[in-house]
Amino acid sequence: MDSSNFQKKNVLITGASRGIGKATALAFAQNGANVGINFRTNKEEALRTLAELPGDGHHLFQQDISKKEGAKALIDHFVEKYSQLDVLVNNAGISIFHEIDQVDFDHWTHAWEKTFETNLFAAANLCYWAAQSMMKSGGGHIVNVSSRGAFRGEPTKPAYGASKAALNAMSQSLAKKLAPHNIFVGVVAPGFTETEMAAKTLTPEERENLLRESPFKRMAQPKEVAHAILFLASEGAAYTSGTIIDVNGASYLRS
Ligand SMILES: NC(=O)c1ccc[n+]([C@@H]2O[C@H](COP(=O)([O-])OP(=O)(O)OC[C@H]3O[C@@H](n4cnc5c(N)ncnc54)[C@H](OP(=O)(O)O)[C@@H]3O)[C@@H](O)[C@H]2O)c1
Repeated sequence: MDSSNFQKKNVLITGASRGIGKATALAFAQNGANVGINFRTNKEEALRTLAELPGDGHHLFQQDISKKEGAKALIDHFVEKYSQLDVLVNNAGISIFHEIDQVDFDHWTHAWEKTFETNLFAAANLCYWAAQSMMKSGGGHIVNVSSRGAFRGEPTKPAYGASKAALNAMSQSLAKKLAPHNIFVGVVAPGFTETEMAAKTLTPEERENLLRESPFKRMAQPKEVAHAILFLASEGAAYTSGTIIDVNGASYLRS
């Protein structure tokens, strides 16, 4: 990968205060990009991430992207600050337990609504506003962060698996529609990755099964997911538009 690709590129990453988003922010900054770090609530952590990025062209953008006005405001504020959006990484995501044989109906509907608001509708709304901006400026790259759960079933979090499968389908539709505008859309689908989300959502039994399933006997590191995101956002990867890259250590293979 030509690291000079990202010199002077303006990159917006949702949910970049920690986890995969933070590792992605670091990787882009190390490759010369100006990085916009979006987060929702945890300003202290976002400030710590900002302080760790090499270079001085980076800024925080606090916004709840699950609100439709928040998605528009985020792109507006980013474009006000940098004039142009070159790369959007839709990384922010949530995951809520809602086992069909365990929870009441209120919990069930709450989990479906909240999961889809963040994992699908926010990404769709951000793609909409990012595309309006990129169509004016001559193009750009969008990378959406999905999950292995889109393919292999998520029995304890069915809304999560469904939201990521829908994110994959949306990304492929937009890859076709936006190609004539020089806008490339790709997807990275990680397996379990060492972040707070994995720590919170894995039961001890699931963690044990997971390590048993993994030929590497470990989870992904956030920077391994970031590496695939940077590849899809690079100029040379334009013709891979519409692809879904698995980063799951061969724990779930599809052809
Ligand atoms: N970790 C895994 O095992 C794994 C596996 C497959 C796929 N993924 C996907 O990878 C992505 C990142 O996961 P992660 O493990 O790094 O997550 P994480 O550690 O839980 O971090 C989530 C980030 O998203 C932000 N966020 C959540 N809701 C938001 C909202 N409504 N508006 C703005 N920001 C919001 C959080 O900000 P605050 O801190 O301010 O709340 C935080 O920065 C997600 O899409 C996830 O589904 C993760």
